[in-house]
Amino acid sequence: MGLKQKSTDLRKRMRDALKGGGDKAIEKQKAIGKLTARERIITLLDPKSFHEYDLFVEHAAKDFDMNKKYLPGDGVVTGTGLLSGNPVCIYAQDFTVAGGSLGWMHAKKITKIMDHALKLKVPIIGINDSGGARIQEGVNSLAGYGEIFFRNTISSGVIPQISVILGPCAGGAVYSPALTDFVFVVDKISKMFITGPEVIKTVLGEEISMEALGGARVHCETTGNAHFFADSEIECFDQIKSLASFIPWNNSAKAKPFPKKSPKTRHYKIDTIMPSDPKQPYDVRDVIKSISDDSNFLEVMELFAQNIVIGFARMDGNTVGFVANQPMVLAGVLDVDSSDKAARFIRYCDAFNIPLVTLVDLPGYLPGIDQEHAGVIRHGAKLLYAYSEATVPKITLIMRKAYGGGYIAMCSSHLRADFVFAWPMAEIAVMGPEGAANIIFRKEIMSAEDPEKLRKQKVQEYKDKFANPYVAAAYGYVDAVIEPSETRKMITHALEISGQKSVNLPAKKHGVPPF
Ligand code: HXC
Repeated sequence: MGLKQKSTDLRKRMRDALKGGGDKAIEKQKAIGKLTARERIITLLDPKSFHEYDLFVEHAAKDFDMNKKYLPGDGVVTGTGLLSGNPVCIYAQDFTVAGGSLGWMHAKKITKIMDHALKLKVPIIGINDSGGARIQEGVNSLAGYGEIFFRNTISSGVIPQISVILGPCAGGAVYSPALTDFVFVVDKISKMFITGPEVIKTVLGEEISMEALGGARVHCETTGNAHFFADSEIECFDQIKSLASFIPWNNSAKAKPFPKKSPKTRHYKIDTIMPSDPKQPYDVRDVIKSISDDSNFLEVMELFAQNIVIGFARMDGNTVGFVANQPMVLAGVLDVDSSDKAARFIRYCDAFNIPLVTLVDLPGYLPGIDQEHAGVIRHGAKLLYAYSEATVPKITLIMRKAYGGGYIAMCSSHLRADFVFAWPMAEIAVMGPEGAANIIFRKEIMSAEDPEKLRKQKVQEYKDKFANPYVAAAYGYVDAVIEPSETRKMITHALEISGQKSVNLPAKKHGVPPF
């Protein structure tokens, strides 16, 4: 065969492999708003930048008549390309080929591209659309998942790992994403569960739809398994590009700096955000936007545990991670879910050299039987651990309430914040004035002629003494009491001079956080 014939043969082989599960199967996916695996990669990455490998890999299974089946590319597309000009490794499972199920060779393709990503120190993006372990391949498909989970774990904190859920994903197909840094889902298309509705019905007799069990909204609002919610695959890809603009490409790099921009002060006026009545809520995202470059804030896990806000923004062109109590939701208290949400984000920022800016306004940890029994001690401790362990620059601003454990947990100077600022309306105390006065003056109040009058007097006494930032400032726990209008200037300066921060923690293999 001459070169011409060989080329014709190659092209034919490629055409066959590129067909995936065939036109009918592709049409079925399109009807529910899904792109094909290759279309997804090509749409996400920079034009003409995708290079595919292992197109001719075939499965090696024999049982259950598998030896008679041709599964193009073994149901997964892998390769490298550019995302906004930067190199990435990527894979996308093809649901049209055996439901994107994972057999041994399918897993080998994925682990090969994961190994490249770790070696080349570039992010790995996994587009998951899979029924999980390929049932016909038995223990080999389980082995395949084990190999993936191992790589997810050792890559954690070294390269960014991004998971996109774009189909019904079961079993191992959701555990790998759970080990990665960011999980993106699309309404009506993404489903995640360990066992689907059929198994649940068989084992427990309970009936539930796929959407209600593990749809995109469920994972963004209720379980916290997903970080970004989109209405379409295209919107989801735009969100990934936006995230990629904020994060460094590996743990030895810093995020790419952007030209400095002022906040949009016409929309976000820092002096007017805080209500004059200290009991009134406000949207802490307005504070973030009032001090961030171009007021551009990418919120992470926007729909989950909304009493805390986390996300990325830039200050003077450089990425920062914001962690902020949200007074609009449950007065910004810390609870099981918000502690988990913030702790993981703090660890991400610390692993990837992203400075942390913490905005504080909370009455403390949420009391109650539900929270105690849900393990608020253990989960709340994750936040203490994550902040204490983080060695990136840590800047804290106490805006209003900082009571009790909440004061300590929200990156106080005791957990080694580098700089703590407070607004003049800050109240730093063991608890709110009403609660405090009722406890410490109880006997006096009860035996007074006019208990209500004395109670009010004692509340005021406590407020005058402690409901301000000056006691903490007198001990040096607060570095400066500042006007709200000075906030951006003070934080950007603190970040600038912390640029070369270097901290040596005691040598150890690793800590034992309260997972
Ligand atoms: C082999 C599979 C498969 C699997 C789907 N298919 N899942 N083949 N192994 N795990 C095949 C189907 O047989 C079908 O083939 C095609 O993919 C499309 O599947 P449908 O069921 O027609 O699609 P849909 O109705 O959309 O349902 C999708 C689904 C469902 C929800 C994912 O297929 C399902 O429940 N699959 C099994 C999920 C599961 O229990 N997986 C094992 C998890 S255990 P044809 O030829 O008809 O087109 C696991 C172990 C790791 O992953 C655990 C780690 C901790």
